[in-house]
Amino acid sequence: MSHADDHEGTRRDFIYYATAGAGAVVTGAAVWPLVNQMNPSADVRALASIRVDVADVEPGTQLTVKWLGKPVFIRRRTEEEITEARQVALGDLADADSRNENVPGSDASDENRSLDEAGEWLVMMGVCTHLGCVPLGDGAGDFNGWFCPCHGSHYDTSGRIRKGPAPTNLPVPVAEFVDGTTIKLG
Ligand code: FES
Repeated sequence: MSHADDHEGTRRDFIYYATAGAGAVVTGAAVWPLVNQMNPSADVRALASIRVDVADVEPGTQLTVKWLGKPVFIRRRTEEEITEARQVALGDLADADSRNENVPGSDASDENRSLDEAGEWLVMMGVCTHLGCVPLGDGAGDFNGWFCPCHGSHYDTSGRIRKGPAPTNLPVPVAEFVDGTTIKLG
């Protein structure tokens, strides 16, 4: 069946329901927007998920990629950065939530924010949670992670807010390794 036929069938159904009574009309109107949202077009689906080759990212460096119009930081951390992040007591954190879409509702321990168990890879949105500036990386700020110069927010080596006006940790988006050197976002 072509799209046009499909559409025609839908219209006929709607007309049928419309004449069947007011209750059916309300149901039809409420259901259709939801169905449309559940069937995003192919170009929207393609944008919602990207693959990033991280084969050339050395320890102690990071990639910034643009995804859904926003920067995403992909950092390969050094042993020192990982140790520093994992030594922090949870009670010292301003935001106790991991802000990790992969493990929603978990605490902000570094293990709940890093992509791999060893903690080598950290993936997060590069958008300050205060007013949306892009923080500076590569060990910036008082906690050797990221620093947002707009109003002075300091994030640690796990991207957690430690000082300044930003209310929450940098968010970790849905992400996974799909092979040894490729990270899929979304
Ligand atoms: S936008 Fe980052 S501190 Fe205000």
